[in-house]
Amino acid sequence: MPATLIVGAQWGDEGKGKITDLLAQDADIVARYNGGDNAGHTVVFKGQTFRLHHIPSGILYPGVICILGNGMVINPERLCQELDELASRGVEVSPARLKISGRAHLVLPYHIAMDKAEEAIRAKGAIGTTFRGIGPAYSEKFARRGLRVADMLDKEFPEKVEKALEMANRFLKNVYSSEPLDLSSTVQKQLEYARRLIPYIEDTSWFINEALKEGKRLLCEGAQGTFLDIDHGTYPYVTSSYPTAGGAMVGLGIGPKWVEKVIGVTKAYTTRVGGGPFPTELTDEIGERLAEVGREYGTTTGRRRRTGWLDMVALQYAVMVNGFTELALTKLDVLTGIDPIKVCVAYRLCGMETKRFPLSTASLYHCEPVYIEVPGWKEEISQAKNFEDLPPRAQDYVRLVEELAGVPIKIISVGPEREQVIVR
Ligand code: IMP
Repeated sequence: MPATLIVGAQWGDEGKGKITDLLAQDADIVARYNGGDNAGHTVVFKGQTFRLHHIPSGILYPGVICILGNGMVINPERLCQELDELASRGVEVSPARLKISGRAHLVLPYHIAMDKAEEAIRAKGAIGTTFRGIGPAYSEKFARRGLRVADMLDKEFPEKVEKALEMANRFLKNVYSSEPLDLSSTVQKQLEYARRLIPYIEDTSWFINEALKEGKRLLCEGAQGTFLDIDHGTYPYVTSSYPTAGGAMVGLGIGPKWVEKVIGVTKAYTTRVGGGPFPTELTDEIGERLAEVGREYGTTTGRRRRTGWLDMVALQYAVMVNGFTELALTKLDVLTGIDPIKVCVAYRLCGMETKRFPLSTASLYHCEPVYIEVPGWKEEISQAKNFEDLPPRAQDYVRLVEELAGVPIKIISVGPEREQVIVR
């Protein structure tokens, strides 16, 4: 069966872009189903580093069609910039190769202004959003007053933007005490972006389903990760979409019958950006080392990511809510030289040990990780091509994670380059 899902098993930034990039070689279509330009995928290709935000990394393969699904929120200005950047580096993206769902919602400048204003009001309880207007855009979608990509096709699009902007300006001024946005220049700019993007608009659910019926292979790329999911994550320190496997069905308009594999992507340790609980967080020199060796700085915001040990309680929960059929373990090389390595296998909460991820985010703050220690390795592993090339202690670490997760680890990434990967 032809659909494979790639889902973040942690708090995002697991290296999904690289895994998508690897599997895109055998795909006909690569589709994103959630989020917007809050995501950032770094792909190193022919010595060039590409930072993509809306567009899936599959775009670097000439034969692959990329889809921005209905579950996404699209910022027209930033998407046009992304197309320009790709073109400037020799990747021309024609409408035959990129299709944007008409049902996806638009992120407009006032969503960004609201995102900033809301974070300022939250003050100490700030989520630490990417300031890309994601929360406000999804809020409008669910309040049933958002603008969709298909509205760009409507000759009344300028009036629709103007009306939405007038309403937003009232909020910005009266509720958030923020500067209102200029009506005419904002409308004008959105019209320009619309002219540029119109050729790319498609009924992508129809397009994907037709392709699946023809036996084409679909790769669905989730943005963010399980613990940033609006329902299954550490609410309210989450994003406003569904990064989990179920989100792919809703966010692309396909049925579960097409899904063959659900690949969970996890780092060999843990990172998180922004606020919220993180039981295995390390604020010592090992945490610093993970950040520096792992280059743990956000692709979208440049923020230093918080770092910590691998959390198997969280990973087991991610396996459960996504139904992972396999795992991809990334950044194993970053653990080289750390000895011993700790792995969290349970939480201690109110004096009791538990292996269940807590229901309430408030109690997650009080969970103390229960660790086991395993010996580390010193040997360089970034050139390993086969599992057997890894030093025995690195092999043991992989087997331990696999055993605790209850699903096989089929892909191991040992460096940032495309070739630095072991497929088992
Ligand atoms: P928002 O998605 O910008 O609203 O941010 C909500 C939370 O999700 C914040 O903690 C962000 O740091 C986090 N977040 C959003 N997108 C990503 C991502 O692609 N990687 C990691 N964290 C993200």
